[in-house]
Amino acid sequence: MERSPNIRPGSGPRWLALVPLLIAAAHTEHPVVFSAAHKADVGNDPSAALINHSIMLINRLQELLQNGNASDATLRIRTASSNEVKIIQTHQLLLTLQSDVFEGLLANRSVLTLQEPAECAVLFEKFIRYFYCGEISIQLSQAIPLHRLASKYHVSSLQKGVTEYMKTHLASESSQGHVVSWYHYALMMKDEVLQESCLKFLAWNLSTVMSSGEWVTVSNDLMVSLLQRSDLVLQSELELFRAVEEWVSKNSPNDTVVEKVLRSIRYPMIPPNQLFQIQKQSFLLATYRSFIQDLLFQAFQFHSTSPLHFAKYFDVNCSMFIPRNYLSSSWGSQWIINNPARDDRSLSFQTQLGPSNHDSSKKINWNALFSPRWLPVSLRPVYSESVSNPSQSNRMEDGRPRLVVTSAMSGLDFAGVTFQKTVLVGVKRQQGKVFVKHVYNVHQSTDEVPDFLAHADLQKRTSEYLIDNSLHFHIVIKPIYHSLIKAK
Ligand SMILES: *[C@@H]1O[C@H](CO)[C@@H](O)[C@H](O)[C@H]1NC(C)=O
Ligand SMILES: *[C@@H]1O[C@H](CO)[C@@H](O)[C@H](O)[C@H]1NC(C)=O
Ligand SMILES: *[C@@H]1O[C@H](CO)[C@@H](O)[C@H](O)[C@H]1NC(C)=O
Ligand SMILES: *[C@@H]1O[C@H](CO)[C@@H](O)[C@H](O)[C@H]1NC(C)=O
Ligand SMILES: *[C@@H]1O[C@H](CO)[C@@H](O)[C@H](O)[C@H]1NC(C)=O
Ligand SMILES: *[C@@H]1O[C@H](CO)[C@@H](O)[C@H](O)[C@H]1NC(C)=O
Repeated sequence: MERSPNIRPGSGPRWLALVPLLIAAAHTEHPVVFSAAHKADVGNDPSAALINHSIMLINRLQELLQNGNASDATLRIRTASSNEVKIIQTHQLLLTLQSDVFEGLLANRSVLTLQEPAECAVLFEKFIRYFYCGEISIQLSQAIPLHRLASKYHVSSLQKGVTEYMKTHLASESSQGHVVSWYHYALMMKDEVLQESCLKFLAWNLSTVMSSGEWVTVSNDLMVSLLQRSDLVLQSELELFRAVEEWVSKNSPNDTVVEKVLRSIRYPMIPPNQLFQIQKQSFLLATYRSFIQDLLFQAFQFHSTSPLHFAKYFDVNCSMFIPRNYLSSSWGSQWIINNPARDDRSLSFQTQLGPSNHDSSKKINWNALFSPRWLPVSLRPVYSESVSNPSQSNRMEDGRPRLVVTSAMSGLDFAGVTFQKTVLVGVKRQQGKVFVKHVYNVHQSTDEVPDFLAHADLQKRTSEYLIDNSLHFHIVIKPIYHSLIKAK
C-alpha cells in the first residue's frame, strides 16, 4: 500500500483514526466517487430506479450561457480586420473546468479581450457553448478554425475530436477540396498523424486530386514530398508530368523548386513516343530543358535496350526506375467481384513485360485467384474418426480472404528482376474519378500481408469494402530491376 507523507505508522491515535477510511478505499478499489456509489445503489435493489435529468441539466447550463445569469467572466472577442467586438458573458467555473489557458487568463481578471482571426471569431460562441454542453456541430470548412481554437485554449478533448473528424472526412465531397489545406495546417501544428493521413489520401487518390481545384494550392514542400513517393496511384507518369506542368505554370515557383520537381518525374516510365512529344511541345521544357537534359537522355537509352543489358553499362542508382501504381491497362487490370463472399473466382489478364520500349512487343499472361475464406493447410478441418473438437467443422468459416497472382509462364522472375504485385482495394470510378482505400504490395500472394482485407466483413452488404455489393480490386504488376535501383 502506498503511504502518503502525512500518514506515518506509529505516530499515534491520529494515524489510527484513518484506518477504517483506508480499508474502505481499498475495498472499492477506486476513490469513492458519486457515480460508483449510485451504480451500486441501483444495481442491488430491485425496486430502485434511475431518475435521469441530465438533458435538463445541460439545457439549464445552456440557458445560463444564453442569458448570462450570474456571469463572472466577460469575453470580448476582437479581430484585426474590424472594429466590431463580440461580447460573451460566461462563467469561470465552466471555462476553467476544461481549459488551463482560461484558468490562467482568468486568475486575476474577469474581463478578457481576446484577439482572434476572423474565421475563428465567427465560431467563438459555438466554441464557448461546447464548455457548457460538451457538444458541437462541425462542417468541413470549420474544422481548421475550430481546431485552432481548441489548440490555443488547450481544450484537448475538442482538439482530439476535431482531428478525428478530419481523419474520417478526408474523402468527403467538397467543391474546392479540403485535404491540401488540412495537410498544410497539420504541418504547421506538427500533427504527424493527421499529416500522414492527408499524405496517404493525396497519394492514393492522386488522379482525383490532380483534376481538382486544390491541386494548384499544393505548396512547394508538399509537391516535392508527393513526387518522391512510389505509392502514388494515377493513370500514368505522363499524367503526372502534365499535372506538374500545370502546377508550375499557376504557381511560378523559383528555379530551385522547378528543378527539384522536374527531376522527380520518372521519365523511363514514359514510352519514348510520348517523351518525344513532351520534348517537342512542353512549354515547361522549352524554358527548363537544361534541368533534365541528362534524365531525358538516360530515359531514351533505357528504352533502346533491355533493362538488364542497360544496367550492365550504366551506373544508375535511383528511384527513376521504380514504377508507381499506374492504372493504365499495360500495367495491370481492374477486377470487380460481385458477391465476393460467395465462392472462389479467377481472372486472367495480360501486361507488358516491362516499361522498356525494347520489350514493348513482349506480353505476360497472369492468373489471379481470389478466395473469400482461405485457410492454410495446417488449419483445415481434418475428417477422421478421432474428431473430438466439434468447433473444427466450422473452421472453414474462419478463413480469411486471399488473392494470389501467378504468371502463366513459370519461373518468370529471372536474375535481378522481380515482379511486384500491388493490389489496390476499393478502386472506384465515378465520372472517371479513381478512389483507393488500401494498397497492398506482395510478391505473389496476399498471405504475405497479415492485414489483407482484415475487418472487411465481406458477408455483410453494408461492408464499406463493397460498392454495389461488389469488391473493387485493381492489380498492378511492377517489374523491379534490382540492378537499376541499388539503393537500400
Ligand atoms: C441519462 O439520459 C441521457 C439522455 O437520455 C443518456 O444519454 C444517459 O446515458 C442517461 N444516463 C444513464 C446513467 O443512464
Ligand atoms: C436568467 O435571467 C433572466 C432575466 O435576466 C431570467 O428571466 C431567468 O429566469 C434567469 N434564469 C435563471 C436560470 O436564473
Ligand atoms: C494579471 O497577471 C498577468 C501576469 O500574471 C499580468 O500580465 C496582468 O497585467 C495582470 N492583470 C491584471 C488586471 O492585474
Ligand atoms: C481515397 O478516396 C476514397 C473515397 O473518396 C476514400 O474512401 C479513401 O479512404 C481514400 N484513400 C485514402 C488513402 O485516404
Ligand atoms: C526557392 O524557394 C524555396 C522555398 O519556396 C526557398 O527555400 C529557396 O531558398 C528558394 N531558392 C532561391 C534560389 O530563391
Ligand atoms: C545507392 O544510393 C544509396 C543512397 O542513395 C546508397 O546508400 C547506396 O550505397 C548506393 N548504392 C550503390 C551501389 O551505389
